[in-house]
Amino acid sequence: DAAEKSGYDHYMLKEIHEQPRALRQTISGRIDTDDGTADIDVDLPSEYVDSIEEIQIVACGTSNYAGRYAAELLESIVDVRATVEVASEYEFDGGRDPWRTLVVAVTQSGETADTLSAIRRAKRAGARTLAVTNTLGSTVVRETDDSVFIRAGPEIGVAATKTFASQVATLTLLAVRIGRARGSLSYGRARELLESVRRLPNAVQGVLDREDRVREVAREYADSDAFFFVGRKLGHPVALEGALKLKEISYDHAEGFPAGELKHGPLALVTEETPVLALLTDGSRPDETLNNVKEVEARGAPVIGATTADGDGRATDSAYLDVELPVPATGALEPLVANVYWQLFAYHVADEKGRPIDRPRNLAKSVTVE
Ligand code: AGP
Repeated sequence: DAAEKSGYDHYMLKEIHEQPRALRQTISGRIDTDDGTADIDVDLPSEYVDSIEEIQIVACGTSNYAGRYAAELLESIVDVRATVEVASEYEFDGGRDPWRTLVVAVTQSGETADTLSAIRRAKRAGARTLAVTNTLGSTVVRETDDSVFIRAGPEIGVAATKTFASQVATLTLLAVRIGRARGSLSYGRARELLESVRRLPNAVQGVLDREDRVREVAREYADSDAFFFVGRKLGHPVALEGALKLKEISYDHAEGFPAGELKHGPLALVTEETPVLALLTDGSRPDETLNNVKEVEARGAPVIGATTADGDGRATDSAYLDVELPVPATGALEPLVANVYWQLFAYHVADEKGRPIDRPRNLAKSVTVE
């Protein structure tokens, strides 16, 4: 067992540290810089791609948040209509043309019953289906029209970590592929996105190299009453994912919100005993989020902010943050890189409390019941 964990105390920590390697596998041979497109082996004929009116992403838990990240990219950068549904809530609603709807199932295991059931509904309605998964030969691969593999390698910890990063990277490449085929994504913008993907492994390593600092911060705040994660745009799915990770393995109360929603209710919960973890990187509207940070800071809440690093890789020293964690510049994928801080934070809070990190109570790695 110890050998399988390569010296780490838990699979989760091993898998967090495997992310640079997993991401290299995910993107290997898939970036075509000359053409400004992504070479992912997926059967999407150009006439079909042109005819797509909506991409519906169906997924659960962390995979759903990866889907939200991708939907935000598809809508804001690639200019394709994209929606995300929690798989257990999915229906193929009337008013949509099934021939012009691509339904994408995002599932690490490929065996999640809710996601399989959503895909079956989409197929019954006549929509084209695509799986984005980590597992060759899984049920979702057999039941969809085509599949793309995220190539993250096996993930043992119940808390998904490296597969989230590889899902977002793969979906970003898929977005580039679709945007270029439709002509809605310019060569220049595509190259920018591909460059963000290419920089991901090193940027994530830059965050991992600061683990000691995150461990200190986690120890300082581990006994707080609750934890709130905020972020806008691409920072929103990361806020949701940060909160999910923390609650799964530490059993603490944690919630993620779009930063602008704080004042519409959650602010009532904010006290000196509720740290707020804020995404203030590129891609997450940092200036607007800083206004929300000021609101919580004024109420005495400690604020831990992930901010875009300066040219020397250092934090920018914001007066409103109690802790500032610098994120290497990575453009639209910066919130994904920042997510690694939230993973490490969740891990060290849970470790401080002696929780069974790889096997949290009541949870299973793959949920095969509806
Ligand atoms: C993530 O940490 C969770 N364990 C869980 O939310 C998981 O992402 C969800 O059950 C979906 O699993 P899948 O990707 O295998 O479909």
